[in-house]
Amino acid sequence: MGGIGVQQEKVKIQLSGISQSMSGCLWGRAQLSKRYSSLFYDEKAIELVEKIDYDHSTSNDTLFRGIWFSVSENLNLPEFGLFTLRARQFDEKIKTFLKEHPRASIVNIGAGLDTTFYRVDNGLIRWYDIDLPPVIDIRRELLPEPDRVTYIAKSFLDPSWYKDIKHTEDGIFMIAGGLLHFFGESQVKQFFSMLANNFDGGEIVFNVISRSSDGFGAWMTILSPEQRDVMRRALVNALKDWWKKAPRGQKEKLNDMISALELPKKPNGKAWSDLEAWWNQLNEKETMEVLRSFRGPSAATLMRGS
Ligand SMILES: C[S@@+](CC[C@H](N)C(=O)[O-])C[C@H]1O[C@@H](n2cnc3c(N)ncnc32)[C@H](O)[C@@H]1O
Repeated sequence: MGGIGVQQEKVKIQLSGISQSMSGCLWGRAQLSKRYSSLFYDEKAIELVEKIDYDHSTSNDTLFRGIWFSVSENLNLPEFGLFTLRARQFDEKIKTFLKEHPRASIVNIGAGLDTTFYRVDNGLIRWYDIDLPPVIDIRRELLPEPDRVTYIAKSFLDPSWYKDIKHTEDGIFMIAGGLLHFFGESQVKQFFSMLANNFDGGEIVFNVISRSSDGFGAWMTILSPEQRDVMRRALVNALKDWWKKAPRGQKEKLNDMISALELPKKPNGKAWSDLEAWWNQLNEKETMEVLRSFRGPSAATLMRGS
């Protein structure tokens, strides 16, 4: 959900709910492009970020992002976030499909401000970007529909969007990046049954967060042992600071999480999922208190503009 307004030539985006996450994805791809262009390059993403008035570094809508920005600064890790690399994987899949089906229709489900079209366009494909109506309004303002591209302002769970996809004679390929993990099992099942019932064939790539990795474990595994240790200590310090102010009911839970994290080994999945569940029930003020308790320059970055 969201709205738009122009401020000093930059477009101010107001987002809430799941849709907030779209600007983080865009920002991550722009950062990746600026810093590691041989790995991935998206000129349009860099251009778009310049147009938007949104402070990505202070975004704290998820524990993942809050911690990521805070700790990555201390560790000198790439701050774009690993989820950004899925764009590169998706591009490869699309390009492979287009070798066989150069006039295919590509459907980008939960498109946000994704600019994959500009990276893979071969001059022949048809492209469809689906997202919720307020997001499509923002998209249209920032990125008017080029030729061969259609924006569809509907929920991906609304069965009527299938009728908006024309030109399926040379095959259909769908991407759903950063979308399905926000939805429950029954909705995801409903979505796949609708696909099966409405299209004769096609391919889809999507990303999900595995139960065993708890979302965090997956990227924790790529950190060096030293980096993991710094991250763990930063977390423990933040939680201990918060513990002093936490309401009585939360202290016991925090004790358990702190003990689990204090062990000098990779935190197990349970500690991470407890931490996330606990984080999710904090109100905005409490969230900021915890982030404030991260030490060092990272705290300053997180608090800028708050
Ligand atoms: C994490 S963002 C990913 C955006 C884009 N795929 C990318 O990689 O930049 C999730 C997107 O899903 C969209 N979304 C959430 N619920 C949706 C729904 N019911 N139908 C369609 N899109 C939805 C949000 O508005 C947001 O743009």
